[in-house]
Amino acid sequence: MVRKFFVGGNFKMNGDHASLMKIVENLNTSNFAEDVEVVIAPPAIYLDFVRKSVRKEIEVAAQNAYKVSKGAYTGEISPEMLKDLNIGWVILGHSERRTIFNESDELIASKISHALEVGIKVIACIGERLEEREAGVTNDVVTKQLVAISQKVKDWTNVVIAYEPVWAIGTGKVATPEQAQEVHNYIRNWLIKNVSEETSLNTRIIYGGSVTGGNSSGLAQKLDIDGFLVGGASLKPEFVTIINSRA
Ligand code: G3H
Repeated sequence: MVRKFFVGGNFKMNGDHASLMKIVENLNTSNFAEDVEVVIAPPAIYLDFVRKSVRKEIEVAAQNAYKVSKGAYTGEISPEMLKDLNIGWVILGHSERRTIFNESDELIASKISHALEVGIKVIACIGERLEEREAGVTNDVVTKQLVAISQKVKDWTNVVIAYEPVWAIGTGKVATPEQAQEVHNYIRNWLIKNVSEETSLNTRIIYGGSVTGGNSSGLAQKLDIDGFLVGGASLKPEFVTIINSRA
């Protein structure tokens, strides 16, 4: 398979110096399978500390960044600032940003486009809510989210798509490998039809939502699941088991 397995750890708004150092020390001393890309996303205030503490093969992501370089945007950080700190990645469009902070498809697409222009790689999150899945409109929801991105992004080389069904996030209700594979395959076909066959073949589509050391290997066996975006379990030693779930 051409696509390198990708495992992201989204720490969300968790951690302090001491607990992050413990996570970093565990990652620094653990063995990873050969063909896996690992990216961890601490809270913004700890990005520099984590970048300087974690071994360099492990990449670091911000959990958000704004759509412009600088200016009067109190509380925001820009992709240019991430670049300045040697941070290579940013998570954009996470459902918590969409729901709690009312981020629209259009704003998310603008943020993705600007980050890519600056040279920051993007983990772009999409996914349906429970009522949307129950109404049978999962594919329509992810299509709308993908269309918004594709209107502003032409080159997907530096994009990883994270499919995160909202009903599975932080709930302990993981999607079955078959449920996840079905949507991942839909996304891959959407990329063929709407971007290009090459993009579809090369783009990592990762799954997020209650991934643990106990369920990751079943998910990782599926053809179109190229890795994970892990929340809660990325704060625990079992994150290493998830990283190695294809080994
Ligand atoms: O970004 C990660 C996702 O929100 C998944 O979180 O693994 O705690 O369900 P979770």
